[in-house]
Amino acid sequence: EGAIATYGADAAYTIDRLDDKLREYMVDRPVVFYRLGSGSFDGRVTRLVAELRGARARGHAAPVRVEDPGPILHELRLRRSPAERERHRRACEISRDAHIEAMRYARPGIYEYQVQAALEYVFRVNGSPRNGYPSIVASGPNACILHYNENTRRMEDGDLLLIDAGCEWGYHSADITRTFPVNGRFTAAQRAVYEIVLKAQLAGIAAARPGNRYEAIHAAARRVLAEGLVALGALPRGLEESLAMHHYREFYMHGTGHWLGMDVHDVGDYKIDRASRVLEPGMVLTVEPGLYFDPERETVTYHLREYSEDEMWERRLRYGAAAAKRMDDEEKAKAPTVVHGGPRALRGIGIRIEDDVLITANGCDVLTAGTPKTVDEVERACAEAPRLPRP
Ligand code: GLY
Ligand code: MN
Ligand code: MN
Repeated sequence: EGAIATYGADAAYTIDRLDDKLREYMVDRPVVFYRLGSGSFDGRVTRLVAELRGARARGHAAPVRVEDPGPILHELRLRRSPAERERHRRACEISRDAHIEAMRYARPGIYEYQVQAALEYVFRVNGSPRNGYPSIVASGPNACILHYNENTRRMEDGDLLLIDAGCEWGYHSADITRTFPVNGRFTAAQRAVYEIVLKAQLAGIAAARPGNRYEAIHAAARRVLAEGLVALGALPRGLEESLAMHHYREFYMHGTGHWLGMDVHDVGDYKIDRASRVLEPGMVLTVEPGLYFDPERETVTYHLREYSEDEMWERRLRYGAAAAKRMDDEEKAKAPTVVHGGPRALRGIGIRIEDDVLITANGCDVLTAGTPKTVDEVERACAEAPRLPRP
């Protein structure tokens, strides 16, 4: 209860004083902006609403409506003001420098958490008080675990290292992923996958412009990834079928990005009236395609059926996750299947490339530009001597 009092501008309010403040605020307001579901505040607000009903008879405009302020505030947070842009840009620059140092610093034989220390040292020493989210420093097979953040593995020669990390600066979070070879050189198989992910990411960034719908970014990236998977021999069917049947999801099981701001997965609606929203200048989002080849899986059983991801979401919302899964399982059971094993050399490779972009008047500005990204840029950064001492 004491902690709740500190939500107020004046942390010295006792809970009783807080009730007085709320009453004073509410007695002449027909609308109370309050986000229901906020723990023990709910009871307090509804009790006051009930108590103040009587005030209407005395001529006060006491509350008749409780409205969630979320959608209003979220729309405001979705478009960066000039001052917010500068803060966000700074978070991205510091994070860029930290990723560069991580590329220099990593080498076979040291631990993931040691690279994490070098990366986060660069965050802190540049004035970032905290991370935007827990740093993912995932080497070798760990790169295939999407939210791996134990960061305890000793890195080996031949591993890739996937780092997904961003600092917070001025209350804005960066969110960068880079994947690079621990020994400084991509193998042929690693490079082949890397080039596909990079091409997909560039296609996603090209689609991030005003007037385009948010979903255009995912559609562009997904198509390039599926094309690459077909060319690698990882999928049982051609491009159009692989897309319509969503077979690429075996290797690309997440979306291509999210709003980015004060939170790493920031607030804001992705759809309006069921349609993907149109991008506008001032919005900031991530573009982060990836491919992940499970190290232990030799074959995959693919269902030969087309489906719509939108419909799947709609079902989940209307009927709940368990019922939606049952319906999906029933449909799968009716579909023919094909078993396919991809090239062995791909197993254990996990690659993601993530940048942060600000939508501008004619396209987008990559706030994380300068973080090495092409194969050459990455190998060059890996070959540099670290600025920080290694163990
Ligand atoms: N680091 C979390 C994300 O990329 O979504
Ligand atoms: Mn992200
Ligand atoms: Mn990320």
